[in-house]
Amino acid sequence: MAHRIALLPGDGIGPEITVPTVDLLNRLGDFSFEQHLFGGISIDANGIAMTPEVEAACQSADAVLLAAVGGPRWDTTDPSRPRPEQGLLGLRKALGLYANLRPVRPLSALYDASPLKREIIAGTDLLVVRELTGGVYFGRRGRDGDTAYDTMTYSVGEIERIARTAFRAARAKVTSVDKANVLESSRLWREVVVRIHAEEFPQIELEHVLVDNAAMQLISNPSSFEVIVTENLFGDILSDEAAMLTGSIGLLPSASLGGDGPGLFEPVHGSAPDIAGKGIANPLAMFLSAALLLRHGFAMEAEALAVESAVDRALADGLRTGDLGGSATTDEAARAVLNNL
Ligand code: IPM
Ligand code: MG
Repeated sequence: MAHRIALLPGDGIGPEITVPTVDLLNRLGDFSFEQHLFGGISIDANGIAMTPEVEAACQSADAVLLAAVGGPRWDTTDPSRPRPEQGLLGLRKALGLYANLRPVRPLSALYDASPLKREIIAGTDLLVVRELTGGVYFGRRGRDGDTAYDTMTYSVGEIERIARTAFRAARAKVTSVDKANVLESSRLWREVVVRIHAEEFPQIELEHVLVDNAAMQLISNPSSFEVIVTENLFGDILSDEAAMLTGSIGLLPSASLGGDGPGLFEPVHGSAPDIAGKGIANPLAMFLSAALLLRHGFAMEAEALAVESAVDRALADGLRTGDLGGSATTDEAARAVLNNL
C-alpha cells in the first residue's frame, strides 16, 4: 500500500519547491499525494487558513509535508482578521506535535557561504529540540483597553515529554536553554529538566544556559552544542540564528513529532514572497524535510540518507542558489540533486 502524504504547498515559494520534492519522493518509494489549500491561499478561498476538512485530511494521512505559509497580502495587526500562520499553529496543536526537531549541520562545502569564519563553524553538528505546542504561542492573549498581553505557560507534563525527546536524541550532551533568572515558567522548566535527567538519563551531560547567553554562544562557539532543548519562542528565535551557521536558512529542514498520528515535515524558512514566482527559490530545505519525512515518518532510513547525501554532493559539486551567492534556479538545483541520487 502506498504511503499517504498530505501535501500543503501553501504560499509564496511554497508551490515552486513542492513540485520537485514530489518528484524526488516518487523516485524513492510508493507514495500517494493529496494536495490541500493551506495558509493564505486557503484564506482567499475559504476565509480561514485551515478548514476542518483539511485538518481532518491531515489527521488521517500517514505524514504531512508542508512548504511555507504567509505573505504581505495577509499581513494584518487586526486580531479579528485571519492570518496564514493560524493554519500552521492550529495544525501543530491538532496533531499534538509537541517536539520540533531542527538539525543544523553546516557542510564543509558551504563553510564559506556562512557569514561566520570557517574556524568558528567547523565541526558544528547540533540539533535544536523546540517545544512546539506550549508557551507564549498558545497561552492566553488579548487586549484590555490600551494594553495587550500574551502569557507564557508550561505544565510539568509538557516539560517532561520534551525533555525526554531531547535526552533520547543526545549521544553525550544536552543544553537546556531558559530564562530562569527572570521567568517563573523557566524556573519550572529547569526543575523538571534536572529531575528527568537525574531519574532517567544520568549518563548524558546536562548544562543550563540562559537564552541571551545561548544566542551569543551559538555565534561564538557553535560546535560546543550537541542538543539544545528549549521552549517554543526561544526555539523559534534560536533556530533561525542557528540556520545562518549553514550559510542560509534555505538549507534547514524540520520534523514535528510527538502526536499519535502523522508527523509534520517542513522547512524552517518562510514563504519568501520577495522571490516567489521567479523560479529561483532554493528547494534544498524542502528536500531535506522530505528526508526527515522518510526517516521519521516511514522509517526509510536508507532513502533518507540517499537524499541527504545527494544534497551534500550537489553542493560539493558547486550548486549555489541565489541565497548562497550563486545563480542556480530551482529547476537546476533539483536536477543537480536528482542526478546525485
Ligand atoms: C517557524 C515559523 C512559525 C513559528 C511561524 C510561521 C508561525 O517561524 O516554524 O519557525 O513561529 O513557529
Ligand atoms: Mg521561525
